[in-house]
Amino acid sequence: MTKKEEIIEVINNIYLSKYYKNIKDLISSDESSSLLSGDSRAFLYTLIIKLGLNKVLEIGTYFGGGTKNLANAVLKNNGNLITLDPSKDRKKIIEKEISSWDDELKKLTFFFPLTSSDFFLMKNYAVLDQGIWFDLLIIDGDHSYTGAFSDLLNCSQYAGPNGIIIVDDYNQPPVYNAVKDFLKINSNWQEINNSISSDAIKFSKITPSIKNLPFLILIGPENPSINQNLTSIGKNILGTVKGINLNLAKPCNDGILESRWLISIMNDDKSISMKTLDCKKEIKSGRVNINLNLPYPITSSKKYPMTIDTHLVWNDKVTNNLELSSPPKYVVQ
Ligand SMILES: C[S@@+](CC[C@H](N)C(=O)[O-])C[C@H]1O[C@@H](n2cnc3c(N)ncnc32)[C@H](O)[C@@H]1O
Repeated sequence: MTKKEEIIEVINNIYLSKYYKNIKDLISSDESSSLLSGDSRAFLYTLIIKLGLNKVLEIGTYFGGGTKNLANAVLKNNGNLITLDPSKDRKKIIEKEISSWDDELKKLTFFFPLTSSDFFLMKNYAVLDQGIWFDLLIIDGDHSYTGAFSDLLNCSQYAGPNGIIIVDDYNQPPVYNAVKDFLKINSNWQEINNSISSDAIKFSKITPSIKNLPFLILIGPENPSINQNLTSIGKNILGTVKGINLNLAKPCNDGILESRWLISIMNDDKSISMKTLDCKKEIKSGRVNINLNLPYPITSSKKYPMTIDTHLVWNDKVTNNLELSSPPKYVVQ
């Protein structure tokens, strides 16, 4: 059995586990300001514990009741939780809710009053680590087709090995359709039970991944990779950047790594300079570490970080897949 198959088996069996039943009894009696049912909250809690997930992203905080449930589970794994909600009406309520928690829960939770698109655009994931990979990403924000689709694209770029994306409200057609279309163009992701067909949608045939839960559960590749789909990463950096470093999970084939760098520098007088730089490197087979240097180092102003977006593609004659063992890291001086 592969690691991925083992994970899928664990997920499919959560419902039957004693742990889930105990947690469900505890959680269901809990008054929670969450739109999720006690069953759903108990499922997410058990999933985090059973799979040892420790970097979690929640899109759609609402009143923070579901967030507290996630934070309690993540605490057991010594992890971190980022939660996002742009609602101006609820910002104060969410902040008040989080400030009422125990210190240890507060410390591991980061709330951003932003839309998910702005969160990714502004590279706020860097609060956790310079090259963050999430273990679990929960999509429950903008339920339109474009909202759910862009969340899926962004979340898949920041998912770690066998990363799990849970999409709430499977029965909302725009959400289901977004998942279906995402899977069509991302063949290295799957719905855990391969139950989403690429045929036309019939509402009566729309089913969740696990009976009685409102979720579609997706799992990503064993190793995130750079391939012929664009891999885009970015960071706000103060200092000098020389290039990017990649650690590979498997020795590579002979191939070519191409990158396009879009750099926006805010000068000390707040004027902006933009640069587009390309660099390309032929890589010999067998390498497990690659340094891709910019044609020349780029330095930010003294006061303001520059924004770097790096777009990468890999081309070889065998798999077109460069499998990574850790998130790409900028080489900063
Ligand atoms: C269905 S509720 C989330 C329920 C919550 N997960 C819970 O457990 O109770 C959807 C939330 O997503 C927020 N939202 C809407 N658009 C969003 C976006 N683009 N990014 C992040 N959150 C968004 C809304 O303000 C709302 O609070």
